[in-house]
Amino acid sequence: MRRFRVRRSGALRGSLTVPGDKSIGHRALLFASLAEGASRIRGLSNGLDNHATRGALEAMGVRFQTNEADTTVEGVGLFGLKMPKSSLDCGNSGTTMRLLAGIVSAQKFGVRLVGDASLSSRPMRRIVEPLRARGAHIAGVRGKTEGEHYAPLSIAPLIDGESLTGLRYESPIASAQVKSCLLLSGLYADGPTTVYEPLLSRDHTERMMLALGVPLSSAGTISVLDPAGWVRRWDGFDWTVPGDLSSAAFFLVAGAIVEGSEIEIEGVGTNPTRTGILDALRQARASIELVPRGDGAGNEPVARLVSRHDRIAPVRVGGEIVTRMIDEVPILCALAACAEGRTDIRDAEELRAKESDRLSTMASTLRAFGVDVVELQDGLTIHGMQRGAGRWLTPATVNAHGDHRIAMTAVVLGLVADGESIVEDVACVETSFPGFAERLRALGADLVEEEVEA
Ligand code: S3P
Repeated sequence: MRRFRVRRSGALRGSLTVPGDKSIGHRALLFASLAEGASRIRGLSNGLDNHATRGALEAMGVRFQTNEADTTVEGVGLFGLKMPKSSLDCGNSGTTMRLLAGIVSAQKFGVRLVGDASLSSRPMRRIVEPLRARGAHIAGVRGKTEGEHYAPLSIAPLIDGESLTGLRYESPIASAQVKSCLLLSGLYADGPTTVYEPLLSRDHTERMMLALGVPLSSAGTISVLDPAGWVRRWDGFDWTVPGDLSSAAFFLVAGAIVEGSEIEIEGVGTNPTRTGILDALRQARASIELVPRGDGAGNEPVARLVSRHDRIAPVRVGGEIVTRMIDEVPILCALAACAEGRTDIRDAEELRAKESDRLSTMASTLRAFGVDVVELQDGLTIHGMQRGAGRWLTPATVNAHGDHRIAMTAVVLGLVADGESIVEDVACVETSFPGFAERLRALGADLVEEEVEA
């Protein structure tokens, strides 16, 4: 088993870049594969999740080549995918499975989508039901919740004369994976696709569709793709994937809570559907500077961010800001642990359906570091520690439960706890952030990665 040993840190100072945005990377790979002609994707993350998407597309006949930070993709066109020889392995990646399911459901060949133990315990009914409603032949297997569908997902081919129909779908949850799955299947449908969300989830799919000339219109939480009269094709493209704000967030919070720190991160994506963590940091009166740097892949804004240590006020987050920081709630908990007062996180029940049940894994992680936390069905209440008041984080040994964001959050907590902490089961960090530990060490952190017997 891989684990980190991390000691309380002095000031972290310096500048870095982070791997390409994982969400944008998945989508750039999909759109490049379905383009007519070659595309170049610069700055794609080499994390395992993006790799799973690439591997699945390769298995369906798309050719890729990677030189240093550039990936070239020989697009096969919207109707050029081939039947894979075996199941498509989505690894740990929910985005890979849910987005691919939308595309594969429209093919004239069948596919089985499989994932690791974590992905196989995540809910899939959210895509199975609306895909079936438009004529797809898709089913998962039974699991712990009655009526739910779990991976492996089996998708049978559309037979001659069958096609996906138009769809109006009111999603009960704000989920970019559900929305994107339906919009991608809508590329093949014989009528319009309309998706309503309760709150606007990340809109990378919509931005890319617009950049490529797909007939999509969005207004607030409604997206409509109407293929009537559309040629159902787009050309290859040359896009640069911005740095992943979800990865940068670990450094923004580390900079905010480790005394004397100043950390600069260049080239980070700042799409407003993702910047809830920046708003929460502002609410916490953290010192964050943002310098706009123009646009990257498919109309995605990019900025340089600087985080400096300061006193941290408690925050209250719920509603739309949580949707805009759904992957950053774990690291917000580390900020809350160092805030001067009580932080409330609400409307975050979706965290229970992530790579781990993140409300439960964060509650036990915080408690291990001596932090007083109350777990609710839809959130957490965290009582910040105050060194001045004689209460501070104690070193801990914690398990990441195979969840990359829990592993990295625990490391950040370990940077401020007095003494040496151990974070176990951290191989999962490779799914989203290869080079996380090296970057922290380059800033001055005392962090060792080691292999021990499980
Ligand atoms: C993602 C959407 C979010 C997010 C995930 C990536 C995407 O999931 O948590 O890490 O790329 O579409 P949900 O759609 O399940 O909220």
